[in-house]
Amino acid sequence: MTTLQAPKRDFVSMADLDAPALLKLLERAAQLKAQPRGDLLAGKTLALVFEKPSLRTRLSFDVAMAQQGGRALYLSPAEVGLGQREPPRDVARVISRMVDAVALRTHEDEKLAEFARYASVPVINALSEGEHPCQCLADLLTIRERKGRFAGLRLAYIGDGNNVANSLLIGGATVGLDVTIAAPEGYAPPAAVLAIAERRARESGGAVRVVSRPEEAAEGADILYTDVWTSMGQEQEAAVRRQAFAGFSITRRLLARAAPDAIVMHDLPAHRGEEIEDDVIEGPQSVVFDQAENRLHAQKALLVALLSRA
Ligand code: CP
Ligand code: NVA
Repeated sequence: MTTLQAPKRDFVSMADLDAPALLKLLERAAQLKAQPRGDLLAGKTLALVFEKPSLRTRLSFDVAMAQQGGRALYLSPAEVGLGQREPPRDVARVISRMVDAVALRTHEDEKLAEFARYASVPVINALSEGEHPCQCLADLLTIRERKGRFAGLRLAYIGDGNNVANSLLIGGATVGLDVTIAAPEGYAPPAAVLAIAERRARESGGAVRVVSRPEEAAEGADILYTDVWTSMGQEQEAAVRRQAFAGFSITRRLLARAAPDAIVMHDLPAHRGEEIEDDVIEGPQSVVFDQAENRLHAQKALLVALLSRA
């Protein structure tokens, strides 16, 4: 990948990939989906350091390594105690002496940055407060499969301007999507993320917009996307958020405003009856399980790019 920094290449943000690198990665992911098994990661070890629960991210990294001859080692929060039992910079240096790469799922982006600074092997953001770039790779792969292009497509994200939204903004703008975020006041993505996405959109011919009404975003959209109102680590805000996000749901009525062949996306886990209606997530336009499967193929392509010369 051209923009990941030498000598050590990390993937902590969608901003770490420029358009050519991102498109190349998606192409590689499609190839690996067609031919999943090989030895591209033979002898390589990936450590999974997770401070939050996970189904998709943990499983997809583990299976991706195994299908290409490598192995993954899961280290639970209780074992590592990042920042409690041991400072991130020490954990990063110890782990770097034994494995070839680390996927870190944590809370604060500062912790991720400290970890990446001290690690001498590639560090992958497996979800932080600020971004979920691995999810975005799978999402873009899914859009590519379903729509066959990015340019000119309109993606409407309905809900919280969170980690998933931030990565989608940057990644979507990089490949030329027209991304609109509909978020309640106070829950829009951070200005710094919007600034990166706007810059990327200017280069790609895409667009970036934030609105306050879900209907405005959904009108004529090719892709409707949503995520939970309350992310991991924000559980104490759940009641306040349920009020703030009322109406920021993908319902049948909202879907009817989108293009007739629109697809519905969600990174999962989903809260039916909150950000998405059961009929919609179970309906024919939903591609949520393609997205989940594509985590495997997209992250395998990422690992190959970071760890092998292939
Ligand atoms: N979408 C996603 O990252 O799922 P997990 O939290 O289960 O890994
Ligand atoms: N925004 C969600 C994504 C979960 C995969 C969270 O951070 O909990």
